[in-house]
Amino acid sequence: MAGAADVNGVVVEAKDVAKVYDQGKLKVNALDGVSLEVRAGEMLAVMGPSGCGKTTLLNCLSGLDEITRGEVLVRGRNLHHMKDDERTTFRARSMGFIFQSFNLLPVLSAVENVELPLLVSGHSIRAARKAAEAALTEVGLNHRLNHKPKELSGGEQQRTAIARSIVNNPDLIWADEPTGNLDSNTSKEIVDLLKRLNKERHQTQVIVTHSEEVAKECDRLVRMRNGRIESVQAIRLLRGRHV
Ligand SMILES: Nc1ncnc2c1ncn2[C@@H]1O[C@H](COP(=O)(O)OP(=O)(O)OP(=O)(O)O)[C@@H](O)[C@H]1O
Ligand SMILES: [Mg+2]
Repeated sequence: MAGAADVNGVVVEAKDVAKVYDQGKLKVNALDGVSLEVRAGEMLAVMGPSGCGKTTLLNCLSGLDEITRGEVLVRGRNLHHMKDDERTTFRARSMGFIFQSFNLLPVLSAVENVELPLLVSGHSIRAARKAAEAALTEVGLNHRLNHKPKELSGGEQQRTAIARSIVNNPDLIWADEPTGNLDSNTSKEIVDLLKRLNKERHQTQVIVTHSEEVAKECDRLVRMRNGRIESVQAIRLLRGRHV
Protein backbone atom coordinates (compact mmCIF):
# COMPACT_ATOMS: atom_id res chain seq x y z
CA MET A 1 0.00 0.00 0.00
CA ALA A 2 1.06 3.58 -0.55
CA GLY A 3 2.45 5.38 2.46
CA ALA A 4 4.87 3.83 4.88
CA ALA A 5 6.64 1.67 2.34
CA ASP A 6 7.21 4.49 -0.13
CA VAL A 7 10.72 5.81 -0.02
CA ASN A 8 10.53 9.61 0.19
CA GLY A 9 7.30 9.54 -1.82
CA VAL A 10 9.05 7.80 -4.70
CA VAL A 11 7.57 4.48 -5.79
CA VAL A 12 9.79 3.68 -8.74
CA GLU A 13 13.32 4.91 -9.23
CA ALA A 14 15.15 4.11 -12.46
CA LYS A 15 18.85 4.95 -12.56
CA ASP A 16 20.67 5.04 -15.90
CA VAL A 17 18.71 2.10 -17.26
CA ALA A 18 19.79 0.68 -20.58
CA LYS A 19 18.18 -2.11 -22.57
CA VAL A 20 19.90 -3.55 -25.60
CA TYR A 21 18.04 -6.10 -27.70
CA ASP A 22 20.83 -8.22 -29.05
CA GLN A 23 20.02 -10.08 -32.24
CA GLY A 24 23.55 -11.05 -33.18
CA LYS A 25 24.70 -8.50 -35.77
CA LEU A 26 21.80 -6.20 -35.00
CA LYS A 27 21.78 -4.51 -31.64
CA VAL A 28 18.90 -2.21 -30.74
CA ASN A 29 19.47 0.33 -27.97
CA ALA A 30 15.82 0.37 -26.93
CA LEU A 31 16.61 2.22 -23.68
CA ASP A 32 19.74 4.32 -23.65
CA GLY A 33 20.39 5.59 -20.12
CA VAL A 34 16.99 6.38 -18.67
CA SER A 35 16.71 7.89 -15.20
CA LEU A 36 13.26 8.59 -13.84
CA GLU A 37 11.35 8.82 -10.58
CA VAL A 38 7.69 7.88 -10.37
CA ARG A 39 6.11 9.58 -7.38
CA ALA A 40 3.60 7.99 -5.04
CA GLY A 41 0.05 8.64 -6.14
CA GLU A 42 0.81 10.32 -9.44
CA MET A 43 -0.56 9.60 -12.88
CA LEU A 44 2.47 9.71 -15.16
CA ALA A 45 1.97 9.76 -18.92
CA VAL A 46 4.67 8.52 -21.28
CA MET A 47 4.57 9.64 -24.91
CA GLY A 48 6.86 9.44 -27.91
CA PRO A 49 7.06 8.19 -31.47
CA SER A 50 6.53 4.54 -32.33
CA GLY A 51 9.67 2.53 -31.58
CA CYS A 52 11.16 5.08 -29.12
CA GLY A 53 11.09 2.57 -26.25
CA LYS A 54 7.86 3.16 -24.31
CA THR A 55 6.80 -0.48 -24.02
CA THR A 56 10.39 -1.43 -23.27
CA LEU A 57 10.44 1.17 -20.47
CA LEU A 58 7.29 -0.30 -18.92
CA ASN A 59 8.60 -3.85 -19.22
CA CYS A 60 11.99 -2.97 -17.71
CA LEU A 61 10.69 -0.76 -14.89
CA SER A 62 8.06 -3.31 -13.87
CA GLY A 63 10.53 -6.19 -13.95
CA LEU A 64 8.75 -8.03 -16.78
CA ASP A 65 11.99 -7.84 -18.74
CA GLU A 66 15.69 -7.90 -17.84
CA ILE A 67 17.81 -4.77 -18.18
CA THR A 68 21.27 -4.45 -19.69
CA ARG A 69 22.60 -1.74 -17.37
CA GLY A 70 21.45 0.43 -14.49
CA GLU A 71 19.14 -0.07 -11.53
CA VAL A 72 15.41 -0.14 -10.91
CA LEU A 73 14.19 0.33 -7.35
CA VAL A 74 10.51 -0.24 -6.57
CA ARG A 75 9.72 1.03 -3.09
CA GLY A 76 13.42 0.88 -2.40
CA ARG A 77 13.82 -2.73 -3.50
CA ASN A 78 16.15 -3.51 -6.36
CA LEU A 79 14.01 -5.41 -8.88
CA HIS A 80 16.82 -6.88 -10.87
CA HIS A 81 18.62 -8.22 -7.82
CA MET A 82 15.63 -10.43 -7.00
CA LYS A 83 15.45 -14.02 -8.09
CA ASP A 84 12.91 -14.70 -10.86
CA ASP A 85 10.27 -16.26 -8.63
CA GLU A 86 10.72 -13.59 -5.97
CA ARG A 87 10.26 -10.89 -8.62
CA THR A 88 7.18 -12.64 -10.01
CA THR A 89 5.60 -12.77 -6.55
CA PHE A 90 6.56 -9.15 -5.83
CA ARG A 91 4.92 -8.12 -9.12
CA ALA A 92 1.80 -10.18 -8.53
CA ARG A 93 1.33 -8.68 -5.06
CA SER A 94 2.00 -5.05 -5.79
CA MET A 95 1.48 -4.28 -9.48
CA GLY A 96 -1.34 -4.38 -12.01
CA PHE A 97 -1.01 -4.36 -15.81
CA ILE A 98 -3.34 -3.03 -18.50
CA PHE A 99 -2.66 -3.52 -22.20
CA GLN A 100 -3.92 -2.02 -25.45
CA SER A 101 -5.37 -5.31 -26.65
CA PHE A 102 -6.97 -6.16 -23.25
CA ASN A 103 -5.32 -9.64 -23.14
CA LEU A 104 -8.46 -11.39 -21.88
CA LEU A 105 -8.77 -15.14 -22.29
CA PRO A 106 -11.55 -15.67 -24.87
CA VAL A 107 -12.94 -18.90 -23.40
CA LEU A 108 -13.41 -17.43 -19.93
CA SER A 109 -16.25 -15.16 -18.81
CA ALA A 110 -15.57 -11.69 -17.43
CA VAL A 111 -15.67 -12.85 -13.83
CA GLU A 112 -13.47 -15.87 -14.59
CA ASN A 113 -10.89 -13.65 -16.31
CA VAL A 114 -10.79 -11.34 -13.31
CA GLU A 115 -10.53 -14.08 -10.68
CA LEU A 116 -7.81 -15.99 -12.52
CA PRO A 117 -4.80 -14.13 -11.02
CA LEU A 118 -6.17 -14.75 -7.53
CA LEU A 119 -6.66 -18.46 -8.19
CA VAL A 120 -3.12 -18.66 -9.56
CA SER A 121 -1.75 -17.02 -6.42
CA GLY A 122 -3.54 -19.52 -4.17
CA HIS A 123 -6.79 -17.85 -3.06
CA SER A 124 -9.81 -20.06 -2.48
CA ILE A 125 -12.39 -20.31 -5.27
CA ARG A 126 -14.94 -18.59 -3.09
CA ALA A 127 -12.69 -15.71 -2.06
CA ALA A 128 -11.48 -15.22 -5.65
CA ARG A 129 -15.05 -15.10 -6.98
CA LYS A 130 -16.09 -12.60 -4.33
CA ALA A 131 -13.12 -10.30 -5.05
CA ALA A 132 -13.64 -10.59 -8.82
CA GLU A 133 -17.31 -9.63 -8.52
CA ALA A 134 -16.37 -6.67 -6.33
CA ALA A 135 -13.73 -5.51 -8.83
CA LEU A 136 -16.17 -5.81 -11.75
CA THR A 137 -18.76 -3.89 -9.75
CA GLU A 138 -16.19 -1.19 -9.09
CA VAL A 139 -15.65 -0.71 -12.85
CA GLY A 140 -19.42 -0.72 -13.49
CA LEU A 141 -19.73 -4.22 -14.97
CA ASN A 142 -21.70 -6.16 -12.36
CA HIS A 143 -24.34 -6.77 -15.07
CA ARG A 144 -21.84 -8.48 -17.39
CA LEU A 145 -20.22 -11.03 -15.07
CA ASN A 146 -20.91 -14.05 -17.25
CA HIS A 147 -20.25 -12.52 -20.64
CA LYS A 148 -17.31 -13.81 -22.66
CA PRO A 149 -14.93 -11.15 -24.09
CA LYS A 150 -16.47 -11.43 -27.58
CA GLU A 151 -19.86 -10.65 -26.02
CA LEU A 152 -18.51 -7.39 -24.56
CA SER A 153 -17.87 -4.04 -26.24
CA GLY A 154 -14.27 -2.79 -26.51
CA GLY A 155 -14.77 -0.43 -23.57
CA GLU A 156 -16.32 -3.23 -21.51
CA GLN A 157 -13.41 -5.53 -22.37
CA GLN A 158 -10.96 -2.87 -21.19
CA ARG A 159 -13.01 -2.36 -18.00
CA THR A 160 -12.79 -6.11 -17.42
CA ALA A 161 -9.02 -5.94 -17.91
CA ILE A 162 -8.85 -3.02 -15.47
CA ALA A 163 -10.91 -5.04 -12.95
CA ARG A 164 -8.40 -7.86 -13.38
CA SER A 165 -5.51 -5.44 -12.81
CA ILE A 166 -6.98 -4.15 -9.52
CA VAL A 167 -8.39 -7.40 -8.11
CA ASN A 168 -5.38 -7.92 -5.83
CA ASN A 169 -5.40 -4.26 -4.69
CA PRO A 170 -2.08 -3.21 -6.21
CA ASP A 171 -0.99 0.36 -5.65
CA LEU A 172 1.10 0.56 -8.84
CA ILE A 173 -0.49 0.22 -12.29
CA TRP A 174 1.37 -0.04 -15.60
CA ALA A 175 -0.82 0.70 -18.62
CA ASP A 176 0.47 0.35 -22.19
CA GLU A 177 -1.80 2.35 -24.50
CA PRO A 178 -4.93 1.44 -22.54
CA THR A 179 -7.14 3.44 -24.90
CA GLY A 180 -5.30 2.60 -28.12
CA ASN A 181 -8.11 0.38 -29.44
CA LEU A 182 -11.02 2.54 -28.30
CA ASP A 183 -13.01 5.40 -29.85
CA SER A 184 -12.72 8.82 -28.25
CA ASN A 185 -15.86 8.62 -26.08
CA THR A 186 -14.96 5.18 -24.75
CA SER A 187 -11.40 6.34 -24.30
CA LYS A 188 -12.62 9.18 -22.09
CA GLU A 189 -14.64 6.75 -19.97
CA ILE A 190 -11.57 4.59 -19.44
CA VAL A 191 -9.43 7.60 -18.50
CA ASP A 192 -12.13 8.76 -16.07
CA LEU A 193 -12.11 5.29 -14.52
CA LEU A 194 -8.31 5.34 -14.18
CA LYS A 195 -8.52 8.81 -12.60
CA ARG A 196 -11.12 7.60 -10.11
CA LEU A 197 -8.95 4.60 -9.16
CA ASN A 198 -5.93 6.89 -8.86
CA LYS A 199 -7.83 9.15 -6.50
CA GLU A 200 -9.88 6.68 -4.46
CA ARG A 201 -7.29 3.92 -4.19
CA HIS A 202 -4.26 6.24 -4.17
CA GLN A 203 -2.87 4.25 -7.05
CA THR A 204 0.33 5.26 -8.76
CA GLN A 205 -0.19 4.89 -12.50
CA VAL A 206 2.25 4.94 -15.41
CA ILE A 207 0.30 5.30 -18.65
CA VAL A 208 1.87 5.00 -22.09
CA THR A 209 -0.27 6.78 -24.64
CA HIS A 210 -0.25 8.26 -28.13
CA SER A 211 -3.13 10.53 -27.15
CA GLU A 212 -2.59 14.13 -26.01
CA GLU A 213 -6.15 13.97 -24.64
CA VAL A 214 -5.17 11.14 -22.30
CA ALA A 215 -1.84 12.75 -21.37
CA LYS A 216 -3.42 16.03 -20.39
CA GLU A 217 -5.47 14.22 -17.72
CA CYS A 218 -2.26 13.03 -16.04
CA ASP A 219 -0.08 14.81 -13.48
CA ARG A 220 3.21 14.69 -15.38
CA LEU A 221 4.27 13.86 -18.91
CA VAL A 222 7.48 12.13 -19.92
CA ARG A 223 8.41 12.49 -23.59
CA MET A 224 10.76 9.88 -25.01
CA ARG A 225 12.81 9.74 -28.19
CA ASN A 226 15.31 7.14 -29.38
CA GLY A 227 15.43 5.29 -26.08
CA ARG A 228 15.97 8.44 -24.02
CA ILE A 229 13.87 10.81 -22.00
CA GLU A 230 13.57 14.04 -23.90
CA SER A 231 11.57 16.01 -21.34
CA VAL A 232 9.52 15.72 -18.17
CA GLN A 233 6.73 18.21 -17.83
CA ALA A 234 4.28 18.92 -14.99
CA ILE A 235 0.73 18.93 -16.29
CA ARG A 236 -1.32 19.38 -13.17
CA LEU A 237 -0.12 20.21 -9.73
CA LEU A 238 -0.21 17.10 -7.60
CA ARG A 239 -3.43 17.27 -5.72
CA GLY A 240 -1.85 16.89 -2.32
CA ARG A 241 -3.32 13.47 -1.73
CA HIS A 242 -0.27 11.55 -0.70
CA VAL A 243 1.87 13.85 1.30
N1 LIG B 1 12.03 -8.31 -28.38
C1 LIG B 1 12.67 -7.42 -29.14
N2 LIG B 1 13.76 -7.78 -29.86
C2 LIG B 1 14.43 -6.87 -30.61
N3 LIG B 1 14.09 -5.58 -30.74
C3 LIG B 1 13.00 -5.17 -30.06
C4 LIG B 1 12.23 -6.06 -29.24
N4 LIG B 1 11.20 -5.37 -28.69
C5 LIG B 1 11.32 -4.10 -29.15
N5 LIG B 1 12.40 -3.98 -29.97
C6 LIG B 1 12.87 -2.74 -30.62
O1 LIG B 1 13.11 -1.80 -29.57
C7 LIG B 1 12.67 -0.50 -29.94
C8 LIG B 1 11.68 0.01 -28.91
O2 LIG B 1 10.48 -0.78 -29.00
P1 LIG B 1 9.20 -0.50 -28.11
O3 LIG B 1 8.26 -1.62 -28.33
O4 LIG B 1 9.64 -0.23 -26.73
O5 LIG B 1 8.63 0.85 -28.76
P2 LIG B 1 7.35 1.70 -28.42
O6 LIG B 1 7.81 3.08 -28.09
O7 LIG B 1 6.54 0.99 -27.42
O8 LIG B 1 6.58 1.76 -29.82
P3 LIG B 1 5.00 1.73 -30.16
O9 LIG B 1 4.51 3.14 -29.92
O10 LIG B 1 4.96 1.39 -31.62
O11 LIG B 1 4.35 0.70 -29.30
C9 LIG B 1 12.10 -0.63 -31.34
O12 LIG B 1 13.09 -0.21 -32.25
C10 LIG B 1 11.82 -2.11 -31.50
O13 LIG B 1 11.97 -2.51 -32.84
MG1 LIG C 1 4.66 0.04 -27.46
